Amino acid sequence: MANALNNDGDPGRLVLGVESSCDETAAAVVEDGRRALSSVVASQVRDHAPFGGVVPELASRRHLEAVAPVIRAALAGAGVTLGQISGLAVTQGPGLIGSLLVGLSAAKALAWARDLPIVGVSHLEGHIAALRLMDDPPAPPFAALLVSGGHTSIYHVHDFGQMEELGQTVDDAAGEAYDKVAKLYGLGYPGGVIIDRLAAGGDPTAIQLPRPRLRDGTLDFSFSGLKSAVVRFRQEHIGQNYRIEDLCAGFQEAVVEVLTSKTIAAAKQRGLTRLALAGGVAANQRLRQAMAQAAAAAGMELTAPPVALCTDNAAMIAAAGAIRLRAGLRLALEADAVSRLPRGGRLPGEA
Ligand code: KG4
Ligand code: ZN
Repeated sequence: MANALNNDGDPGRLVLGVESSCDETAAAVVEDGRRALSSVVASQVRDHAPFGGVVPELASRRHLEAVAPVIRAALAGAGVTLGQISGLAVTQGPGLIGSLLVGLSAAKALAWARDLPIVGVSHLEGHIAALRLMDDPPAPPFAALLVSGGHTSIYHVHDFGQMEELGQTVDDAAGEAYDKVAKLYGLGYPGGVIIDRLAAGGDPTAIQLPRPRLRDGTLDFSFSGLKSAVVRFRQEHIGQNYRIEDLCAGFQEAVVEVLTSKTIAAAKQRGLTRLALAGGVAANQRLRQAMAQAAAAAGMELTAPPVALCTDNAAMIAAAGAIRLRAGLRLALEADAVSRLPRGGRLPGEA
């Protein structure tokens, strides 16, 4: 039986999104793929903080506890009932498999019980789709730098829902490097925002660190060598006096210089004049400032979304899902979660 409000035949009209790929349980209701009516995020940061990183087994348990109340809160926050929802979108990967399975199972159960169309969404496509939720979204085509705790990639976004990867990290993600450096110095978790804050009071030229792959001519990144350079610096300076603020500023400057220069190079290669930032590290103040300066110098226009749209949320999943629902894609109810995306970025189990 088709849902009575399966809404003028448009499955993308009012989408419930569910995200549980890492340590945030999130649900949101998005209208027309463009307007978030609600966006609820239950963070597990406090649960994982004592361990200095996400503990997968603990994350799955917390998702199990949070998923139903978070979905209920998203519906209530939007002032809609499940009966009014036109389609479902859920993160299918990449991410922690046990975490992904919780959101995926919850969304599938709702789709089955309510006979609603459902799509699986790539978490990465979601981060890019977050830009579409802005009042003034960037007009495709544009170059996007996606920087998070799990990913660092540059895309040529031909259109929302159609992105081509131009380069990516060959080892650690930028956010992972931030978190590892913060852990090394016992600064707290998650490290990105703490280093961002400390770096603001430091001198970025006081401690020089390497800029990996800055001039290698590719659009790929590498951050594990930079992290090792910080480890070495720390060992070599035991008992010596230096300011942690300067170390943070020096580290951050190295990361930001590589990210900025490769993004501008990618846009130039593709003849693109618009740039956009996405992902948790896009919340970084210095990155936003340096990108804005570099874009202006190159005659390009930069879009930096508000912080709530940079970090993990489900509105971005619903926004990406609306496009997929309207394109007629559907998730098979037996489709699995995927910890890593296959080459080309296509999700399995799609009809
Ligand atoms: O996108 P996100 O919420 O989750 C993933 O998909 O990974 O990104 C989380 C990452 C973490 O590594 C965190 O340390 C980093 O984003 N992050 C930041 C800042 N805020 C969050 N890194 C640098 N500066 C920030 N202000
Ligand atoms: Zn993310």
